[in-house]
Amino acid sequence: MQTVTNIEALRANIRQWRQERQSVAFVPTMGNLHAGHIKLVTTAKQQADKVVVSIFVNPTQFGPNEDFASYPRTEQQDQAKLIECDTDLLFLPSAKEMYPQPIQTSISVGGLSTLHCGASRPGHFDGVALVVCKLLNILQPDLLLLGEKDFQQLAVIRRMVADLNIPVAIQGVATVRETDGLAMSSRNGYLSAAQRRLAPRLYQSLCAARDTILAGKDDYQAVEDQQRQLLQQAGFAVDYFNVCRSDDLLPANPNDHTLVILLAARLGTTRLIDNVYFCKQTPDRTGFLPIKENA
Ligand code: PAJ
Repeated sequence: MQTVTNIEALRANIRQWRQERQSVAFVPTMGNLHAGHIKLVTTAKQQADKVVVSIFVNPTQFGPNEDFASYPRTEQQDQAKLIECDTDLLFLPSAKEMYPQPIQTSISVGGLSTLHCGASRPGHFDGVALVVCKLLNILQPDLLLLGEKDFQQLAVIRRMVADLNIPVAIQGVATVRETDGLAMSSRNGYLSAAQRRLAPRLYQSLCAARDTILAGKDDYQAVEDQQRQLLQQAGFAVDYFNVCRSDDLLPANPNDHTLVILLAARLGTTRLIDNVYFCKQTPDRTGFLPIKENA
């Protein structure tokens, strides 16, 4: 695996691959890599000839009181993991390389960026859209891989790519979980032992809400309230627990078929997010009810 820190060197590599008619997949990350990130890379390897991974803790997507300074930076371990899964190139730019001058351009994906996480982290998705747009312009890959773990981020980037006609295909990759169901995240490392034992309840509450809906409960507000209350009683500060339509992330109504339940909650100072994505199906003519799950 080659590691490059500047844009020109990165582009020279990609130019060479293009001359050889090789396809390029791209996995953007902020490092501190875990099995969820690696799943994106191994999926990318199956789809394209060459895989580029970036590691850049992007300052523009962190709010003033967020964990930018303390965000785990583990470059050496990350490089070893990327070599192991056969990554072709690691792009490891400095902040100066990505933002050589104060940026005057902004990218804001309208309504989508203001809902859910956008409401409690103002400006967060503008920072994400900006850096992903820059990275796509720098690399010009054929395929971009993003995790469904960050479901709203995936929706925001899909919308930006569609609105701006950015010539890249996007593939979402299912959330990788610990054996107890907790979604893998770099922020899980902030949890105390007691908080870590509690954390799998997030996914359990999402699954319980999904199963209640699949069993026919149409009052989504009641489902949300019930799970929010249970989580609060268990010691979580729930930011939101929202049953949404999976395409525009607006509140779902009983006629919608493809749903996602989005959840953000704090344990102490650590904010965790998770979601379940699933389809409600109506019985076919044989009366058989096939429940297709994509969680
Ligand atoms: P980061 O949190 O490092 O995540 C990088 C990618 O890994 C994202 O697409 C995220 O959805 C995916 N990912 C994280 N945990 C996952 C899990 N448990 N299972 C599957 N995929 C998972 O997301 C970012 O960085 C940044 O916002 C970025 C897109 C790089 C822009 O700065």
